[in-house]
Amino acid sequence: MLLNIRLFFLSQFAFVVTLTYGQPTQSKPAIPSLTHTGEIWKDTDGNIIQAHGAGVLYHQGVYYLFGEIKKGKTWLVPNQSWECYRVQAGGVSCYSSKDLVNWKNEGIALAPNPTDATHDLHLSKVIERPKVVYNRQTRQFVMWMHVDSETYGYSQAGVAVSDQPAGPYRYLGSVRPNGQMARDMTLFKDSDEKAYLIFASESNATMHICQLSADYLSPTSTYKRILIGQHREAPAMFKHQGRYYLITSGCTGWAPNPAAYAMASQPLGEWKTYGNPCIGPDADSTFHAQSTFVLPLKGKPNEYLFMADRWNKLDLEDSRYVWLPLHMVNQQPQIRCPEN
Ligand code: GAL
Repeated sequence: MLLNIRLFFLSQFAFVVTLTYGQPTQSKPAIPSLTHTGEIWKDTDGNIIQAHGAGVLYHQGVYYLFGEIKKGKTWLVPNQSWECYRVQAGGVSCYSSKDLVNWKNEGIALAPNPTDATHDLHLSKVIERPKVVYNRQTRQFVMWMHVDSETYGYSQAGVAVSDQPAGPYRYLGSVRPNGQMARDMTLFKDSDEKAYLIFASESNATMHICQLSADYLSPTSTYKRILIGQHREAPAMFKHQGRYYLITSGCTGWAPNPAAYAMASQPLGEWKTYGNPCIGPDADSTFHAQSTFVLPLKGKPNEYLFMADRWNKLDLEDSRYVWLPLHMVNQQPQIRCPEN
């Protein structure tokens, strides 16, 4: 299995480089691959994958991909001081894969609410960046996500649980951890089984990293303000050789901007910001994408998969995916895009 993934990674990466060099992003043929550079990407039924702002759970030899389902026509929310493009909240999708290449649709993991306009998951609301971790103690799969109102004023973190990795998940409600706003977010489970919710707070000016309760179902009062005043969002966290890394984007809505990474020796320790991990042409726009997750590749200690969204603000349902190899070199992350 491990060898397979390694071979897939290397061969598919080379395959993509060979076949797509110099081709415009949107016109590339759909190649089954572990990496993605904005092509139309289909599941094993031949349907276009809807998994935006995604995260991956690895459980008992299977990868589960969770993401936002964006449905229908995009609209511009009126009377906003910023360009607020929105689309119907279609809930959270789940796809499974044993090789990170072929993805089977497992159906809707967390269904939206079509009838109650006051419900967090109503179609008119915002459901973004779902992430799932497994709690060994309770044997439950716990999903956290950003839930918001149409104008992003609600700013809460929602939580749902399931006994099965693919769901269906049962929504438990939402919270402002320690009374603080929660927008773009991710989850991180450490090797000591402690889990953390990392989110853009304080009107996106500062991130918070908050330890979750032992059952992962609620925030605790143990939290730290990090990247203070740096206006970062789209967090994606991973651990490499005992150090913690957080890749983030700037705050420019659906428009791409340069990524940056921060590093700390403890999740609740001192986080120091470094430069852009992206290298080469289009690095300054994160290859026209925005971070969402970093997946460690099994059996490859220096290799990770960097997952990002290439948003299409005028047709959000047609937003694409940029999944690239992330190599650790001298304890620094480096991301290159094979199409450049
Ligand atoms: C982005 C954020 C997305 C979405 C968007 C709305 O900056 O990362 O998840 O919230 O803003 O404009």
